[in-house]
Amino acid sequence: MSKKRISLFSKIFYPIVCFFGLIGLLTLFLFVRIQTRNMEKTLIEEHLLFAQILSLEIESHYYKGTWPFSTLKKVSESKNILFWRLVNSDGEIELADNTNLWGKKIQDKDFKTKKIMVKDEILPSTNERIKIIIYPLGIKEKGQPWTLWLGISLRNIRKAQKELILTILSLSPLLLLIIYLFPFYLAKSITTPIKRLVKATQIVGKGNLDYTIDIYTSDEVGILTHAFNKMVKDLKNKTVSLNYFDTIINTMADSLIVTDAHGKIELINEAAVKLLGYKREEMVGKNIHSLIEVESYFSFKEEMKEPVKSLEAIWHIKGKKEIPVICSCSEVKNKKGEVTNRIYVVRDITDIKKTEEELIQAYKRLKETQDELIQTEKIAALGKLASGTAHEIKNPLSIIMQGIYLVDNLIPEKSQELKETIEMIKEAVRRADAVIRRILNYARASKIAKTPHKICEIIEEGLSLIEEQLKFKNIKIERDYPAKPIFVEADRVMLSQVFLNLATNSQDAMPEGGVIKIKVYEEDNFCVIEFEDTGIGIPQDKLSKVFEPFYTTKKPGKGTGLGLAMVELIINRHNGKINIESEVGKGTKFTIKLPKLKEE
Ligand SMILES: Nc1ncnc2c1ncn2[C@@H]1O[C@H](COP(=O)(O)OP(=O)(O)O)[C@@H](O)[C@H]1O
Ligand SMILES: [Mg+2]
Repeated sequence: MSKKRISLFSKIFYPIVCFFGLIGLLTLFLFVRIQTRNMEKTLIEEHLLFAQILSLEIESHYYKGTWPFSTLKKVSESKNILFWRLVNSDGEIELADNTNLWGKKIQDKDFKTKKIMVKDEILPSTNERIKIIIYPLGIKEKGQPWTLWLGISLRNIRKAQKELILTILSLSPLLLLIIYLFPFYLAKSITTPIKRLVKATQIVGKGNLDYTIDIYTSDEVGILTHAFNKMVKDLKNKTVSLNYFDTIINTMADSLIVTDAHGKIELINEAAVKLLGYKREEMVGKNIHSLIEVESYFSFKEEMKEPVKSLEAIWHIKGKKEIPVICSCSEVKNKKGEVTNRIYVVRDITDIKKTEEELIQAYKRLKETQDELIQTEKIAALGKLASGTAHEIKNPLSIIMQGIYLVDNLIPEKSQELKETIEMIKEAVRRADAVIRRILNYARASKIAKTPHKICEIIEEGLSLIEEQLKFKNIKIERDYPAKPIFVEADRVMLSQVFLNLATNSQDAMPEGGVIKIKVYEEDNFCVIEFEDTGIGIPQDKLSKVFEPFYTTKKPGKGTGLGLAMVELIINRHNGKINIESEVGKGTKFTIKLPKLKEE
Protein backbone atom coordinates (compact mmCIF):
# COMPACT_ATOMS: atom_id res chain seq x y z
CA MET A 1 0.00 0.00 0.00
CA SER A 2 1.53 3.28 -1.01
CA LYS A 3 1.07 6.10 1.40
CA LYS A 4 0.75 9.54 -0.14
CA ARG A 5 3.81 11.52 0.77
CA ILE A 6 3.13 14.99 2.15
CA SER A 7 6.08 17.27 1.60
CA LEU A 8 7.73 19.05 4.47
CA PHE A 9 6.90 22.34 2.73
CA SER A 10 3.16 21.53 2.78
CA LYS A 11 3.42 20.47 6.39
CA ILE A 12 4.82 23.86 7.33
CA PHE A 13 3.10 26.11 4.78
CA TYR A 14 -0.54 25.06 4.97
CA PRO A 15 -0.94 25.05 8.76
CA ILE A 16 0.62 28.54 8.93
CA VAL A 17 -1.61 29.79 6.11
CA CYS A 18 -4.65 28.39 7.90
CA PHE A 19 -3.51 29.87 11.19
CA PHE A 20 -2.92 33.34 9.75
CA GLY A 21 -6.12 33.15 7.73
CA LEU A 22 -8.13 32.36 10.84
CA ILE A 23 -6.41 35.06 12.86
CA GLY A 24 -7.05 37.55 10.04
CA LEU A 25 -10.71 36.61 9.78
CA LEU A 26 -11.15 36.81 13.55
CA THR A 27 -9.46 40.21 13.65
CA LEU A 28 -11.68 41.49 10.84
CA PHE A 29 -14.78 40.18 12.55
CA LEU A 30 -13.83 41.79 15.85
CA PHE A 31 -12.83 45.04 14.13
CA VAL A 32 -16.14 45.32 12.34
CA ARG A 33 -18.01 44.41 15.47
CA ILE A 34 -16.19 46.94 17.66
CA GLN A 35 -16.55 49.59 15.00
CA THR A 36 -20.32 48.94 14.83
CA ARG A 37 -20.65 49.02 18.59
CA ASN A 38 -18.84 52.34 18.74
CA MET A 39 -21.07 53.80 16.05
CA GLU A 40 -24.16 52.56 17.87
CA LYS A 41 -22.87 54.03 21.12
CA THR A 42 -22.22 57.42 19.54
CA LEU A 43 -25.66 57.39 17.92
CA ILE A 44 -27.36 56.61 21.21
CA GLU A 45 -25.33 59.24 23.06
CA GLU A 46 -26.26 61.85 20.45
CA HIS A 47 -29.94 60.95 20.69
CA LEU A 48 -29.90 60.88 24.46
CA LEU A 49 -28.64 64.45 24.35
CA PHE A 50 -31.29 65.21 21.79
CA ALA A 51 -33.94 63.60 24.00
CA GLN A 52 -32.77 65.73 26.91
CA ILE A 53 -33.08 68.94 24.89
CA LEU A 54 -36.43 67.86 23.50
CA SER A 55 -37.75 66.95 26.94
CA LEU A 56 -36.78 70.35 28.29
CA GLU A 57 -38.58 72.05 25.42
CA ILE A 58 -41.67 69.88 25.89
CA GLU A 59 -41.70 70.60 29.61
CA SER A 60 -41.45 74.34 29.15
CA HIS A 61 -44.22 74.31 26.54
CA TYR A 62 -46.37 72.06 28.72
CA TYR A 63 -46.29 74.48 31.56
CA LYS A 64 -47.25 77.20 29.11
CA GLY A 65 -50.07 74.97 27.89
CA THR A 66 -48.74 74.49 24.37
CA TRP A 67 -46.71 71.90 22.44
CA PRO A 68 -43.52 72.64 20.52
CA PHE A 69 -45.00 71.45 17.20
CA SER A 70 -42.39 72.99 14.97
CA THR A 71 -39.60 71.24 16.86
CA LEU A 72 -41.56 67.98 16.93
CA LYS A 73 -42.12 68.26 13.18
CA LYS A 74 -38.39 68.56 12.71
CA VAL A 75 -37.95 65.52 14.94
CA SER A 76 -40.33 63.58 12.68
CA GLU A 77 -38.26 64.58 9.69
CA SER A 78 -35.00 63.41 11.30
CA LYS A 79 -33.48 60.54 9.36
CA ASN A 80 -32.47 58.51 12.34
CA ILE A 81 -35.64 58.89 14.35
CA LEU A 82 -38.28 56.44 13.20
CA PHE A 83 -40.96 57.57 15.55
CA TRP A 84 -41.55 59.56 18.72
CA ARG A 85 -44.22 59.33 21.41
CA LEU A 86 -45.12 61.35 24.45
CA VAL A 87 -46.70 59.08 27.05
CA ASN A 88 -48.40 60.27 30.19
CA SER A 89 -48.11 58.69 33.62
CA ASP A 90 -51.09 56.39 32.87
CA GLY A 91 -49.44 55.02 29.79
CA GLU A 92 -51.68 56.88 27.32
CA ILE A 93 -50.08 58.41 24.27
CA GLU A 94 -50.57 62.19 24.57
CA LEU A 95 -48.71 63.07 21.39
CA ALA A 96 -47.04 61.05 18.61
CA ASP A 97 -45.75 61.49 15.09
CA ASN A 98 -48.60 59.25 14.04
CA THR A 99 -51.86 61.04 14.94
CA ASN A 100 -53.76 57.70 14.89
CA LEU A 101 -52.01 56.76 18.08
CA TRP A 102 -53.15 59.81 20.06
CA GLY A 103 -55.09 58.82 23.15
CA LYS A 104 -54.24 55.16 22.71
CA LYS A 105 -52.83 53.15 25.61
CA ILE A 106 -49.26 52.02 25.21
CA GLN A 107 -48.71 48.24 25.55
CA ASP A 108 -45.21 48.44 26.91
CA LYS A 109 -44.94 48.45 30.70
CA ASP A 110 -41.72 50.42 30.61
CA PHE A 111 -43.64 53.71 30.58
CA LYS A 112 -43.43 53.39 34.35
CA THR A 113 -39.65 53.86 34.37
CA LYS A 114 -38.16 56.65 36.32
CA LYS A 115 -34.73 56.27 34.73
CA ILE A 116 -33.51 56.83 31.19
CA MET A 117 -33.84 53.53 29.34
CA VAL A 118 -32.27 52.33 26.08
CA LYS A 119 -33.56 49.05 24.77
CA ASP A 120 -33.49 46.93 21.67
CA GLU A 121 -36.57 46.03 19.80
CA ILE A 122 -37.64 44.52 16.51
CA LEU A 123 -39.87 46.60 14.32
CA PRO A 124 -42.73 44.26 13.42
CA SER A 125 -43.52 45.96 10.09
CA THR A 126 -39.98 45.67 8.63
CA ASN A 127 -38.47 43.14 11.04
CA GLU A 128 -35.75 45.69 11.54
CA ARG A 129 -33.72 45.92 14.73
CA ILE A 130 -34.02 49.30 16.32
CA LYS A 131 -33.14 51.09 19.55
CA ILE A 132 -35.79 52.68 21.75
CA ILE A 133 -34.89 55.49 24.15
CA ILE A 134 -37.36 56.00 26.98
CA TYR A 135 -36.68 59.36 28.60
CA PRO A 136 -38.60 60.33 31.79
CA LEU A 137 -39.77 63.97 31.77
CA GLY A 138 -40.06 66.46 34.61
CA ILE A 139 -43.88 66.37 34.14
CA LYS A 140 -45.28 64.15 36.87
CA GLU A 141 -48.67 62.90 37.94
CA LYS A 142 -49.04 61.09 41.25
CA GLY A 143 -45.24 60.89 41.37
CA GLN A 144 -45.18 59.04 38.05
CA PRO A 145 -43.25 60.97 35.33
CA TRP A 146 -44.33 61.30 31.71
CA THR A 147 -41.99 59.63 29.28
CA LEU A 148 -40.62 60.58 25.87
CA TRP A 149 -40.19 57.58 23.54
CA LEU A 150 -37.83 57.82 20.61
CA GLY A 151 -37.47 55.00 18.05
CA ILE A 152 -33.92 55.15 16.69
CA SER A 153 -33.13 53.58 13.36
CA LEU A 154 -29.85 51.65 13.05
CA ARG A 155 -30.13 51.60 9.28
CA ASN A 156 -27.32 54.10 8.80
CA ILE A 157 -25.07 52.13 11.05
CA ARG A 158 -25.81 49.02 9.07
CA LYS A 159 -24.92 50.92 5.94
CA ALA A 160 -21.69 52.16 7.46
CA GLN A 161 -20.93 48.62 8.60
CA LYS A 162 -21.47 47.30 5.10
CA GLU A 163 -19.24 50.00 3.68
CA LEU A 164 -16.56 49.10 6.18
CA ILE A 165 -16.76 45.42 5.21
CA LEU A 166 -16.65 46.35 1.53
CA THR A 167 -13.59 48.50 2.10
CA ILE A 168 -11.91 45.67 3.93
CA LEU A 169 -12.89 43.19 1.23
CA SER A 170 -11.44 45.46 -1.44
CA LEU A 171 -8.19 45.28 0.49
CA SER A 172 -8.43 41.48 0.93
CA PRO A 173 -6.19 40.49 -2.03
CA LEU A 174 -3.41 42.43 -0.40
CA LEU A 175 -4.18 40.78 2.92
CA LEU A 176 -4.33 37.37 1.35
CA LEU A 177 -1.02 38.02 -0.33
CA ILE A 178 0.50 38.83 3.05
CA ILE A 179 -1.15 35.77 4.60
CA TYR A 180 0.28 33.65 1.75
CA LEU A 181 3.71 35.19 1.35
CA PHE A 182 4.82 35.11 4.95
CA PRO A 183 4.23 31.36 5.47
CA PHE A 184 5.63 30.73 2.01
CA TYR A 185 8.93 32.36 2.81
CA LEU A 186 9.00 30.84 6.26
CA ALA A 187 8.38 27.34 4.90
CA LYS A 188 10.86 27.89 2.08
CA SER A 189 13.59 29.07 4.43
CA ILE A 190 13.19 25.86 6.44
CA THR A 191 12.72 23.36 3.64
CA THR A 192 15.24 24.62 1.07
CA PRO A 193 18.37 23.65 3.08
CA ILE A 194 16.73 20.38 4.06
CA LYS A 195 15.90 19.68 0.41
CA ARG A 196 19.51 20.37 -0.49
CA LEU A 197 20.52 17.86 2.17
CA VAL A 198 18.09 15.28 0.80
CA LYS A 199 19.41 15.81 -2.73
CA ALA A 200 22.97 15.53 -1.44
CA THR A 201 22.23 12.25 0.36
CA GLN A 202 20.74 10.85 -2.85
CA ILE A 203 23.78 11.87 -4.89
CA VAL A 204 26.17 10.50 -2.25
CA GLY A 205 24.02 7.38 -2.03
CA LYS A 206 24.62 6.81 -5.75
CA GLY A 207 28.33 6.79 -5.06
CA ASN A 208 29.45 10.34 -5.78
CA LEU A 209 31.57 10.95 -2.73
CA ASP A 210 32.96 14.24 -4.05
CA TYR A 211 29.67 16.04 -3.49
CA THR A 212 29.54 18.69 -0.76
CA ILE A 213 26.89 21.24 0.24
CA ASP A 214 27.64 24.95 0.66
CA ILE A 215 26.82 26.21 4.13
CA TYR A 216 24.78 29.48 4.26
CA THR A 217 23.46 29.45 7.81
CA SER A 218 24.87 28.86 11.25
CA ASP A 219 21.65 27.47 12.68
CA GLU A 220 20.87 23.81 13.35
CA VAL A 221 20.52 23.10 9.64
CA GLY A 222 23.92 24.70 9.10
CA ILE A 223 25.42 22.43 11.77
CA LEU A 224 23.70 19.44 10.19
CA THR A 225 25.07 20.38 6.76
CA HIS A 226 28.55 20.74 8.17
CA ALA A 227 28.26 17.33 9.85
CA PHE A 228 27.00 15.85 6.58
CA ASN A 229 29.96 17.24 4.61
CA LYS A 230 32.36 15.82 7.19
CA MET A 231 30.63 12.45 7.11
CA VAL A 232 30.90 12.28 3.30
CA LYS A 233 34.59 13.18 3.49
CA ASP A 234 35.25 10.45 6.09
CA LEU A 235 33.21 8.00 4.06
CA LYS A 236 35.25 8.85 0.99
CA ASN A 237 38.51 8.24 2.81
CA LYS A 238 37.26 4.92 4.16
CA THR A 239 35.74 3.85 0.84
CA VAL A 240 38.93 4.64 -1.02
CA SER A 241 40.92 2.46 1.35
CA LEU A 242 38.21 -0.22 1.23
CA ASN A 243 38.32 -0.25 -2.57
CA TYR A 244 42.06 -0.41 -2.37
CA PHE A 245 41.95 -3.49 -0.15
CA ASP A 246 39.16 -4.99 -2.19
CA THR A 247 41.27 -4.69 -5.31
CA ILE A 248 44.28 -6.23 -3.59
CA ILE A 249 42.25 -9.13 -2.17
CA ASN A 250 40.60 -9.86 -5.49
CA THR A 251 43.78 -9.59 -7.53
CA MET A 252 45.81 -11.84 -5.30
CA ALA A 253 46.70 -15.20 -6.80
CA ASP A 254 46.05 -17.18 -3.62
CA SER A 255 42.53 -17.98 -2.51
CA LEU A 256 41.29 -16.17 0.56
CA ILE A 257 38.33 -17.36 2.60
CA VAL A 258 37.20 -15.67 5.80
CA THR A 259 34.73 -17.49 8.02
CA ASP A 260 33.22 -16.75 11.39
CA ALA A 261 34.11 -18.86 14.43
CA HIS A 262 31.68 -21.58 13.33
CA GLY A 263 32.90 -21.80 9.76
CA LYS A 264 30.24 -19.64 8.10
CA ILE A 265 31.81 -18.04 5.04
CA GLU A 266 31.81 -14.26 5.32
CA LEU A 267 34.26 -13.19 2.65
CA ILE A 268 35.71 -14.92 -0.36
CA ASN A 269 38.01 -13.51 -3.03
CA GLU A 270 38.00 -14.00 -6.81
CA ALA A 271 40.72 -16.67 -6.70
CA ALA A 272 38.74 -18.71 -4.14
CA VAL A 273 35.59 -18.43 -6.25
CA LYS A 274 37.55 -19.83 -9.20
CA LEU A 275 39.21 -22.54 -7.10
CA LEU A 276 36.01 -23.85 -5.52
CA GLY A 277 33.95 -23.60 -8.69
CA TYR A 278 30.79 -22.35 -7.01
CA LYS A 279 29.13 -18.97 -7.52
CA ARG A 280 29.99 -16.40 -4.87
CA GLU A 281 26.31 -16.13 -3.81
CA GLU A 282 26.19 -19.90 -3.36
CA MET A 283 29.08 -19.79 -0.90
CA VAL A 284 28.76 -16.63 1.21
CA GLY A 285 26.72 -17.47 4.30
CA LYS A 286 27.24 -21.23 3.85
CA ASN A 287 29.31 -23.29 6.21
CA ILE A 288 32.71 -24.11 4.78
CA HIS A 289 32.34 -27.72 5.98
CA SER A 290 29.26 -28.19 3.87
CA LEU A 291 31.30 -27.34 0.76
CA ILE A 292 34.70 -28.78 1.45
CA GLU A 293 36.04 -31.90 3.05
CA VAL A 294 39.66 -31.89 3.95
CA GLU A 295 41.89 -34.90 3.83
CA SER A 296 45.12 -35.35 5.73
CA TYR A 297 46.93 -33.16 8.20
CA PHE A 298 44.61 -30.25 8.19
CA SER A 299 41.16 -29.89 9.67
CA PHE A 300 38.63 -27.09 9.92
CA LYS A 301 37.31 -28.46 13.17
CA GLU A 302 36.77 -26.06 16.01
CA GLU A 303 38.93 -28.13 18.28
CA MET A 304 41.83 -26.97 16.18
CA LYS A 305 43.56 -24.97 18.85
CA GLU A 306 46.61 -23.75 17.04
CA PRO A 307 46.47 -21.72 13.88
CA VAL A 308 47.97 -23.66 11.01
CA LYS A 309 50.92 -22.56 8.93
CA SER A 310 51.11 -23.84 5.37
CA LEU A 311 50.12 -27.48 5.37
CA GLU A 312 49.56 -29.66 2.38
CA ALA A 313 46.13 -31.18 2.07
CA ILE A 314 43.60 -32.45 -0.42
CA TRP A 315 40.39 -30.45 -0.62
CA HIS A 316 37.37 -32.44 -1.70
CA ILE A 317 35.03 -29.85 -3.08
CA LYS A 318 31.58 -31.42 -2.83
CA GLY A 319 30.05 -32.29 -6.14
CA LYS A 320 33.04 -30.80 -7.95
CA LYS A 321 36.64 -31.92 -7.77
CA GLU A 322 39.63 -32.74 -5.63
CA ILE A 323 42.36 -30.19 -5.37
CA PRO A 324 45.76 -30.55 -3.76
CA VAL A 325 46.42 -27.38 -1.79
CA ILE A 326 48.76 -25.68 0.60
CA CYS A 327 46.59 -24.03 3.20
CA SER A 328 47.28 -21.72 6.10
CA CYS A 329 44.78 -20.66 8.71
CA SER A 330 44.99 -17.70 11.03
CA GLU A 331 42.55 -16.72 13.71
CA VAL A 332 41.05 -13.34 14.50
CA LYS A 333 40.32 -12.91 18.19
CA ASN A 334 38.30 -10.37 20.15
CA LYS A 335 39.44 -8.64 23.35
CA LYS A 336 38.27 -11.60 25.42
CA GLY A 337 40.53 -13.85 23.38
CA GLU A 338 37.63 -15.67 21.71
CA VAL A 339 38.00 -16.59 18.07
CA THR A 340 35.69 -14.44 15.97
CA ASN A 341 36.99 -15.26 12.51
CA ARG A 342 39.29 -17.64 10.68
CA ILE A 343 41.26 -16.60 7.64
CA TYR A 344 42.22 -19.32 5.21
CA VAL A 345 44.82 -18.63 2.56
CA VAL A 346 44.82 -21.46 0.08
CA ARG A 347 47.18 -22.17 -2.79
CA ASP A 348 46.25 -24.60 -5.51
CA ILE A 349 49.26 -26.87 -6.02
CA THR A 350 47.77 -29.05 -8.76
CA ASP A 351 50.45 -27.91 -11.21
CA ILE A 352 53.25 -28.39 -8.71
CA LYS A 353 51.92 -31.87 -7.89
CA LYS A 354 51.62 -32.68 -11.57
CA THR A 355 55.19 -31.61 -12.23
CA GLU A 356 56.31 -33.57 -9.18
CA GLU A 357 54.49 -36.66 -10.42
CA GLU A 358 55.96 -36.22 -13.90
CA LEU A 359 59.40 -35.89 -12.37
CA ILE A 360 58.90 -39.10 -10.39
CA GLN A 361 57.69 -40.90 -13.50
CA ALA A 362 60.60 -39.58 -15.55
CA TYR A 363 63.03 -40.73 -12.86
CA LYS A 364 61.39 -44.14 -12.82
CA ARG A 365 61.66 -44.45 -16.59
CA LEU A 366 65.27 -43.31 -16.43
CA LYS A 367 66.01 -45.93 -13.80
CA GLU A 368 64.31 -48.61 -15.85
CA THR A 369 66.20 -47.65 -18.99
CA GLN A 370 69.39 -47.57 -17.00
CA ASP A 371 68.67 -51.01 -15.53
CA GLU A 372 67.86 -52.33 -18.96
CA LEU A 373 71.04 -50.84 -20.35
CA ILE A 374 73.10 -52.41 -17.61
CA GLN A 375 71.31 -55.70 -18.17
CA THR A 376 71.88 -55.53 -21.95
CA GLU A 377 75.50 -54.70 -21.42
CA LYS A 378 75.84 -57.45 -18.87
CA ILE A 379 74.21 -59.88 -21.27
CA ALA A 380 76.38 -58.78 -24.14
CA ALA A 381 79.53 -59.13 -22.04
CA LEU A 382 78.33 -62.39 -20.60
CA GLY A 383 77.36 -63.61 -24.05
CA LYS A 384 80.78 -62.90 -25.42
CA LEU A 385 82.50 -64.47 -22.45
CA ALA A 386 80.12 -67.39 -22.44
CA SER A 387 80.32 -68.20 -26.12
CA GLY A 388 84.11 -67.77 -26.02
CA THR A 389 84.59 -70.05 -23.06
CA ALA A 390 81.87 -72.42 -24.16
CA HIS A 391 83.57 -73.02 -27.49
CA GLU A 392 86.92 -73.33 -25.76
CA ILE A 393 85.48 -75.93 -23.39
CA LYS A 394 83.21 -77.59 -25.93
CA ASN A 395 86.15 -78.85 -28.07
CA PRO A 396 88.18 -80.48 -25.29
CA LEU A 397 84.90 -81.89 -23.94
CA SER A 398 84.07 -83.58 -27.25
CA ILE A 399 87.59 -84.95 -27.35
CA ILE A 400 87.12 -86.32 -23.81
CA MET A 401 83.73 -87.73 -24.83
CA GLN A 402 85.07 -89.36 -27.98
CA GLY A 403 88.10 -90.65 -26.03
CA ILE A 404 85.97 -92.23 -23.32
CA TYR A 405 83.72 -93.95 -25.94
CA LEU A 406 86.86 -95.22 -27.63
CA VAL A 407 88.24 -96.50 -24.33
CA ASP A 408 84.86 -98.09 -23.59
CA ASN A 409 84.83 -99.87 -26.98
CA LEU A 410 88.51 -100.80 -26.99
CA ILE A 411 88.35 -102.63 -23.66
CA PRO A 412 85.60 -105.28 -23.97
CA GLU A 413 86.25 -106.84 -20.64
CA LYS A 414 86.34 -104.30 -17.96
CA SER A 415 86.39 -104.59 -14.26
CA GLN A 416 83.36 -103.30 -12.33
CA GLU A 417 85.41 -100.38 -11.06
CA LEU A 418 86.50 -99.37 -14.58
CA LYS A 419 82.94 -99.63 -15.85
CA GLU A 420 81.68 -97.28 -13.11
CA THR A 421 84.57 -94.85 -13.74
CA ILE A 422 83.78 -94.70 -17.46
CA GLU A 423 80.08 -94.11 -16.71
CA MET A 424 81.01 -91.36 -14.21
CA ILE A 425 83.22 -89.64 -16.81
CA LYS A 426 80.44 -89.93 -19.44
CA GLU A 427 77.88 -88.43 -16.99
CA ALA A 428 80.24 -85.59 -15.98
CA VAL A 429 80.91 -84.72 -19.62
CA ARG A 430 77.15 -84.75 -20.38
CA ARG A 431 76.46 -82.39 -17.42
CA ALA A 432 79.31 -80.09 -18.51
CA ASP A 433 77.88 -80.12 -22.04
CA ALA A 434 74.40 -79.23 -20.69
CA VAL A 435 75.80 -76.28 -18.74
CA ILE A 436 77.66 -75.05 -21.79
CA ARG A 437 74.52 -75.34 -23.93
CA ARG A 438 72.60 -73.30 -21.39
CA ILE A 439 75.28 -70.65 -21.32
CA LEU A 440 75.18 -70.49 -25.10
CA ASN A 441 71.37 -70.32 -25.00
CA TYR A 442 71.53 -67.47 -22.55
CA ALA A 443 73.99 -65.63 -24.74
CA ARG A 444 71.72 -66.09 -27.73
CA ALA A 445 68.59 -64.85 -25.91
CA SER A 446 69.38 -61.24 -26.72
CA LYS A 447 68.46 -61.87 -30.33
CA ILE A 448 64.92 -63.02 -30.92
CA ALA A 449 62.52 -63.16 -33.88
CA LYS A 450 58.86 -62.61 -33.03
CA THR A 451 55.79 -63.90 -34.85
CA PRO A 452 52.13 -64.19 -33.67
CA HIS A 453 51.40 -67.27 -31.59
CA LYS A 454 48.67 -68.65 -29.38
CA ILE A 455 50.10 -68.32 -25.88
CA CYS A 456 48.63 -71.61 -24.66
CA GLU A 457 50.34 -73.50 -27.47
CA ILE A 458 53.70 -72.03 -26.46
CA ILE A 459 53.09 -72.97 -22.81
CA GLU A 460 52.19 -76.50 -23.84
CA GLU A 461 55.31 -76.75 -26.02
CA GLY A 462 57.49 -75.82 -23.07
CA LEU A 463 55.69 -78.25 -20.75
CA SER A 464 55.77 -81.15 -23.26
CA LEU A 465 59.53 -81.47 -22.77
CA ILE A 466 59.15 -82.15 -19.06
CA GLU A 467 55.62 -83.54 -18.70
CA GLU A 468 56.73 -87.19 -18.52
CA GLN A 469 59.24 -86.40 -15.80
CA LEU A 470 56.63 -84.50 -13.82
CA LYS A 471 54.19 -87.41 -13.98
CA PHE A 472 56.96 -89.65 -12.78
CA LYS A 473 57.67 -87.28 -9.86
CA ASN A 474 53.99 -87.28 -8.97
CA ILE A 475 53.38 -83.69 -10.00
CA LYS A 476 49.98 -82.81 -11.44
CA ILE A 477 49.40 -79.91 -13.86
CA GLU A 478 46.12 -78.00 -13.54
CA ARG A 479 45.34 -75.80 -16.52
CA ASP A 480 42.89 -72.88 -16.56
CA TYR A 481 42.99 -71.66 -20.14
CA PRO A 482 40.51 -69.23 -21.75
CA ALA A 483 38.05 -70.59 -24.31
CA LYS A 484 39.15 -68.00 -26.83
CA PRO A 485 42.85 -68.22 -27.71
CA ILE A 486 44.99 -65.22 -26.84
CA PHE A 487 47.67 -64.24 -29.33
CA VAL A 488 51.05 -62.78 -28.51
CA GLU A 489 54.02 -61.74 -30.60
CA ALA A 490 56.69 -64.21 -29.60
CA ASP A 491 59.83 -66.12 -30.44
CA ARG A 492 58.24 -69.54 -30.08
CA VAL A 493 61.34 -71.47 -29.05
CA MET A 494 62.55 -68.81 -26.61
CA LEU A 495 59.18 -68.23 -24.92
CA SER A 496 58.49 -71.97 -24.58
CA GLN A 497 61.82 -72.16 -22.76
CA VAL A 498 60.37 -69.83 -20.08
CA PHE A 499 57.69 -72.37 -19.16
CA LEU A 500 60.14 -75.24 -19.32
CA ASN A 501 62.44 -73.38 -16.90
CA LEU A 502 59.56 -72.50 -14.54
CA ALA A 503 58.31 -76.08 -14.59
CA THR A 504 61.84 -77.39 -13.96
CA ASN A 505 62.20 -75.12 -10.93
CA SER A 506 58.76 -76.16 -9.63
CA GLN A 507 59.73 -79.78 -10.06
CA ASP A 508 62.89 -79.16 -8.03
CA ALA A 509 60.83 -77.38 -5.37
CA MET A 510 58.39 -80.30 -5.01
CA PRO A 511 60.54 -83.42 -4.41
CA GLU A 512 57.56 -85.17 -2.79
CA GLY A 513 55.25 -84.23 -5.66
CA GLY A 514 52.52 -81.59 -5.82
CA VAL A 515 50.51 -79.43 -8.14
CA ILE A 516 51.41 -76.87 -10.79
CA LYS A 517 48.54 -74.49 -11.55
CA ILE A 518 48.62 -72.53 -14.78
CA LYS A 519 46.03 -69.83 -15.34
CA VAL A 520 45.82 -67.72 -18.51
CA TYR A 521 43.53 -64.71 -18.94
CA GLU A 522 43.24 -61.28 -20.55
CA GLU A 523 43.57 -58.07 -18.62
CA ASP A 524 43.41 -54.71 -20.38
CA ASN A 525 45.83 -55.10 -23.29
CA PHE A 526 47.79 -57.84 -21.66
CA CYS A 527 47.87 -61.56 -21.59
CA VAL A 528 48.42 -62.71 -18.02
CA ILE A 529 49.93 -66.08 -17.16
CA GLU A 530 49.94 -67.21 -13.56
CA PHE A 531 52.33 -70.09 -12.86
CA GLU A 532 51.96 -71.46 -9.37
CA ASP A 533 53.35 -74.45 -7.51
CA THR A 534 52.91 -76.00 -4.11
CA GLY A 535 56.64 -76.28 -3.48
CA ILE A 536 59.01 -75.32 -0.69
CA GLY A 537 58.79 -71.59 -1.46
CA ILE A 538 61.43 -68.86 -1.29
CA PRO A 539 62.24 -66.76 1.76
CA GLN A 540 61.24 -63.07 1.36
CA ASP A 541 64.82 -61.81 1.58
CA LYS A 542 65.87 -64.02 -1.31
CA LEU A 543 63.00 -63.07 -3.60
CA SER A 544 64.92 -60.25 -5.28
CA LYS A 545 67.91 -62.48 -5.91
CA VAL A 546 66.33 -65.33 -7.80
CA PHE A 547 66.46 -63.51 -11.15
CA GLU A 548 70.18 -62.79 -10.82
CA PRO A 549 72.35 -64.84 -13.16
CA PHE A 550 74.23 -67.63 -11.37
CA TYR A 551 72.14 -67.37 -8.21
CA THR A 552 71.25 -70.86 -7.13
CA THR A 553 70.52 -72.74 -3.96
CA LYS A 554 70.98 -76.07 -5.63
CA LYS A 555 73.88 -78.46 -5.39
CA PRO A 556 76.76 -77.92 -7.81
CA GLY A 557 76.06 -79.77 -10.99
CA LYS A 558 72.31 -79.60 -10.29
CA GLY A 559 71.67 -75.86 -10.73
CA THR A 560 73.39 -73.28 -12.89
CA GLY A 561 71.49 -70.27 -11.52
CA LEU A 562 70.73 -69.25 -15.10
CA GLY A 563 67.10 -70.53 -15.32
CA LEU A 564 65.22 -67.51 -13.94
CA ALA A 565 67.77 -65.02 -15.32
CA MET A 566 66.94 -66.46 -18.72
CA VAL A 567 63.19 -66.30 -17.97
CA GLU A 568 63.40 -62.62 -17.06
CA LEU A 569 65.57 -61.86 -20.07
CA ILE A 570 63.18 -63.58 -22.47
CA ILE A 571 60.10 -61.90 -20.94
CA ASN A 572 61.86 -58.53 -21.19
CA ARG A 573 62.68 -59.20 -24.83
CA HIS A 574 58.96 -59.76 -25.34
CA ASN A 575 58.16 -56.38 -23.71
CA GLY A 576 56.57 -58.19 -20.83
CA LYS A 577 56.90 -58.22 -17.08
CA ILE A 578 57.40 -60.95 -14.53
CA ASN A 579 56.53 -60.89 -10.85
CA ILE A 580 57.18 -63.34 -8.11
CA GLU A 581 55.28 -64.05 -4.90
CA SER A 582 56.25 -66.81 -2.55
CA GLU A 583 55.70 -68.21 0.89
CA VAL A 584 58.07 -70.67 2.45
CA GLY A 585 56.44 -74.12 2.83
CA LYS A 586 53.42 -73.15 0.76
CA GLY A 587 54.61 -72.45 -2.72
CA THR A 588 55.66 -69.94 -5.31
CA LYS A 589 53.67 -67.99 -7.86
CA PHE A 590 55.06 -66.29 -10.97
CA THR A 591 52.84 -63.78 -12.79
CA ILE A 592 53.85 -62.98 -16.35
CA LYS A 593 52.28 -60.15 -18.34
CA LEU A 594 52.81 -60.05 -22.08
CA PRO A 595 51.38 -57.50 -24.51
CA LYS A 596 48.36 -59.04 -26.17
CA LEU A 597 48.06 -59.00 -29.95
CA LYS A 598 44.95 -57.18 -31.10
CA GLU A 599 42.56 -59.49 -32.92
CA GLU A 600 41.92 -58.56 -36.50
N1 LIG B 1 59.51 -72.71 -7.99
C1 LIG B 1 60.49 -72.47 -7.13
N2 LIG B 1 60.35 -72.85 -5.84
C2 LIG B 1 61.32 -72.60 -4.94
N3 LIG B 1 62.50 -72.03 -5.24
C3 LIG B 1 62.71 -71.66 -6.51
C4 LIG B 1 61.72 -71.85 -7.51
N4 LIG B 1 62.20 -71.33 -8.68
C5 LIG B 1 63.45 -70.87 -8.42
N5 LIG B 1 63.74 -71.05 -7.12
C6 LIG B 1 64.97 -70.64 -6.45
O1 LIG B 1 65.66 -69.75 -7.29
C7 LIG B 1 66.97 -70.18 -7.58
C8 LIG B 1 67.39 -69.76 -8.94
O2 LIG B 1 66.68 -70.49 -9.89
P1 LIG B 1 67.24 -70.64 -11.34
O3 LIG B 1 67.60 -69.29 -11.81
O4 LIG B 1 66.26 -71.38 -12.13
O5 LIG B 1 68.52 -71.41 -11.09
P2 LIG B 1 68.69 -72.94 -10.74
O6 LIG B 1 67.39 -73.59 -10.95
O7 LIG B 1 69.72 -73.42 -11.66
O8 LIG B 1 69.10 -72.93 -9.32
C9 LIG B 1 66.88 -71.62 -7.33
O9 LIG B 1 68.14 -72.16 -6.95
C10 LIG B 1 65.88 -71.77 -6.21
O10 LIG B 1 66.51 -71.58 -4.96
MG1 LIG C 1 66.35 -73.57 -12.54
